[in-house]
Amino acid sequence: MPRFRTLDDLDVARKRVLLRADLNVPVKDGQVSDATRIERLAPTIENLVGREARVVVMSHFGRPKGVDPTQSLRPIVPALSAAIGGRRVEFATDCIGPEAKKVVDALPPGGVALLENLRFHPEEEANDEGFAKALAELGDLYVDDAFSAAHRAHASIAALARLLPSAAGKNMQAELEALSAALESPQHPVMAMIGGSKISTKLDLLKFIIGKADRVAIGGAMANTFLAAQGRPIGRSLSEPDLLDTARQIMYAAADRGCSVILPDDAVTAEKLEPGAVTRTVGVTAVPMNAMILDVGPQTVARITAALADSKTLVWNGPIGAFETPPFERATVAIAKSVAELTKSGQLMSVAGGGDTVAALAMAGVTDDLTYVSTAGGAFLEWLEGRELPGVAALSIA
Ligand code: 3PG
Ligand code: MG
Repeated sequence: MPRFRTLDDLDVARKRVLLRADLNVPVKDGQVSDATRIERLAPTIENLVGREARVVVMSHFGRPKGVDPTQSLRPIVPALSAAIGGRRVEFATDCIGPEAKKVVDALPPGGVALLENLRFHPEEEANDEGFAKALAELGDLYVDDAFSAAHRAHASIAALARLLPSAAGKNMQAELEALSAALESPQHPVMAMIGGSKISTKLDLLKFIIGKADRVAIGGAMANTFLAAQGRPIGRSLSEPDLLDTARQIMYAAADRGCSVILPDDAVTAEKLEPGAVTRTVGVTAVPMNAMILDVGPQTVARITAALADSKTLVWNGPIGAFETPPFERATVAIAKSVAELTKSGQLMSVAGGGDTVAALAMAGVTDDLTYVSTAGGAFLEWLEGRELPGVAALSIA
C-alpha cells in the first residue's frame, strides 16, 4: 500500500481545510435517494470540525458540460447538514473566485461550507494547473476523502494534492486499508467472485485477479461466454461470441497460475427476463435452445458456498444472476447471506464493491455484515485491475 498522511498528521486548528468529497449521489425529485456516500464522509468532517478547522467541502456532481443549474450541488446541502448532526453548511455558488472566497473568508473555526460543482469549470476534468491554483487559494491544507473518484486525474484530485500539504480522510483511509488487506497481504485461500453481464468490461480485472486469487467464481451473464467457450449450449442467453477465445485464454492463464475457476454447474433458465417468469432449472449441458440462463442453480450455489467456507479472504464484484428481476435474485441473495455469516463468525474477511453489488447486498439485507463494502464503482474496478489510481498516487509520500 502506498504511504500517505492521515488526518492525525495534520495540525488543522483554525486552518482552512479543502476537503475533496464525492457527493455524486443519486438524487430523485430533488431529494438524495441514497446518502451512503454522504454518511461515509461525515466522520471526516466531524473530526475536522471538532479540531476547530474551517472545512471547505468540494465535489463534482454528474457530468455537466459547463454551468448547468440542474447539476447544482445546492440541493445536497440539507442532506450534508443532516449527516453532521444538523450543523449549518454554508454554500458558495462557485467553487473558485470571489464568490467562493467570500464564503470561505467568513467561515469561523469549526464552520463548514460546500462549494458549487467543480465540473462547472471544464478545467477541473482537464487537470488544469491554473484551476488547481485557484482552488488552492481557498485552503491551507488539502484532505482527499473521495476514493470513489480517485480514478479520475482531475484538478481537485491530482494537481491540487501537490499544491498543499495533503492527507487522506477517514473514508479514503478505510478504503485503502480494506483493499490492500484483501489484495496485497491477504490471508489465503483468497477467493474472487466476479459477476455482471460483460467479460469485455472486466477483462483487465480477470487477468489481474487470477494472479492474486486461489480461486475465482464467475457468475452473471459473463459466465455464459465461458460456458459457450467450453462448447456448452447456452440457448438465447446473453453472451459475447467475439470473446470465446479470450475466455479460453483466461481459463488457460488461470490454470497456469494455480487459480481454479468455478463456473456454473446448473442454471435457472426462462424464455423471458420478466418478473415471475416461468423458470426451469437445468444442468449446464442441458440448457434448452429457446431459453436464457438468468441465474445459477442450487448446485452451483452449494459449490460456491463450500468454496467460500474454505476461503479466508473474499473480493466480490458483480451479481451472480439477473438479480433485479425476481426470482433471478435467489443465488445472489443466498450467496450474499453466506458471505455475511462467514464474515460475522470471523472465518472470512470480505470486501465487496461496485454499484450493482452494493444494491444486491442491500437487497439481501447484509450490507453491514461484510468486512468492507466500497462505495466506489469505477475506482474499485480499476483497483481490482491492479492500476495506480491518480487520486491515490497524488497522496502518496515517499
Ligand atoms: C462515481 O460516481 O462513480 C464517481 O463519482 C465518479 O464519477 P464519474 O464517473 O462521473 O467520473
Ligand atoms: Mg460512475
